[in-house]
Amino acid sequence: MAVQTIAVLPGDGIGKEVVAIGREMLELYRSRGFPLALWDLDLGADRYLRDGTTMPEDVFARIRDECSAVLLGALGDPRVPNLEHARDILLGLRFRLDLFANIRPCRALDDRLVPLKGKGAKDVSFVVFRENTEGIYVNVGGNFKKGTPDEIAINEDVNTRKGVERIIRKAFDHALAHGNKTVHMADKSNAMRQSGDLWQRVFQAVARDYPGIAAKHVYVDALCLYLIQAPERFEVIVTNNLFGDIITDLAAALHGGLGMACSASIGAGPVGLFEPVHGSAPDIAGQDKANPLATVLTVGAMMSHLGYPREEARLEAIVREAVAAKQCTADVGGTLGTAATGRFVLDRLKRDDPSP
Ligand code: NAD
Ligand code: IPM
Ligand code: MN
Repeated sequence: MAVQTIAVLPGDGIGKEVVAIGREMLELYRSRGFPLALWDLDLGADRYLRDGTTMPEDVFARIRDECSAVLLGALGDPRVPNLEHARDILLGLRFRLDLFANIRPCRALDDRLVPLKGKGAKDVSFVVFRENTEGIYVNVGGNFKKGTPDEIAINEDVNTRKGVERIIRKAFDHALAHGNKTVHMADKSNAMRQSGDLWQRVFQAVARDYPGIAAKHVYVDALCLYLIQAPERFEVIVTNNLFGDIITDLAAALHGGLGMACSASIGAGPVGLFEPVHGSAPDIAGQDKANPLATVLTVGAMMSHLGYPREEARLEAIVREAVAAKQCTADVGGTLGTAATGRFVLDRLKRDDPSP
């Protein structure tokens, strides 16, 4: 079997701490005979501040042409206030690899992680399909009279029919494959008329190809309400780039916080980008406090992408066990640090003796 190369890009802040564990897991898989190769990338704020490098062209080309996946921690550092490096590295990978589907599962793995009164793990189980290559993230816009009392700042919200259709279709395909009965499309078509109209029309058109699945519309503001009141109503949610970013932080709070939220960015090509939903968390960085379980679940999603879905299930079971036994960090009710939580996961994985 051909060796699959994984680029490992810890990035900034807690990204380094959690990816160190993800990397050890991948190294264990490799040593147990999984045909994987790891390629460490020293990119992020430290490198940027050292020599101005963000994403070198040859590195990008090698990721695009030779890698099967990227494991990314987080980008964002208080010393780089405009996040210039993150735009090139993180958004650069998402956009230039055309990874249009940012898939963010929101699934509670323990009753204890659900903070809503009267709700438990069975009530929080849905997936958000976030459009990942367009919207307000495209950096189309400009300034006028910047720095004066009359200044104007514009960010355009770009929606293409092709872009809207492919993410909606991806969401329906997922619903079909998983036996879901509904797909909700969240927009703000009552205020953003042109883009809302496009999303509405394409949603209805695509839905006709999936007769067994109810296509439901919800305004994104109301969705925030319903996600707290009745999260059990949702199975699959599809939305644009910005709304997807915001509602997945909110949704993370329903199942233990950002330390439990994993994500995959997938396109039409073979390379996938795998990252926990959280950022570099400067408030806890370097203190051995970061929850690495989002990264463990992210490695699981990556293993599935590489052709090893059994490992995704295995890692999810280990994460459930870590939380249930409180062998985890304080944000999810444990007393361990980042490294010790990682050791718990690795010990369990070793005991299972996984093989390809
Ligand atoms: P954040 O996600 O870094 O942190 C938000 C809150 O959640 C903080 O209180 C933090 O301590 C907590 N938290 C996050 N991850 C955690 C974990 N694994 N374990 C325990 N607690 C955790 O968001 P922020 O503070 O708004 O952003 C910090 C920086 O990260 C910014 O520069 C931002 O732009 C960047 N960011 C990057 C990514 C990414 O690289 N994908 C994602 C989000 C934010
Ligand atoms: C995320 C982050 C990024 C985003 C930032 C860092 C640009 O919040 O991955 O959720 O908005 O996509
Ligand atoms: Mn975000």
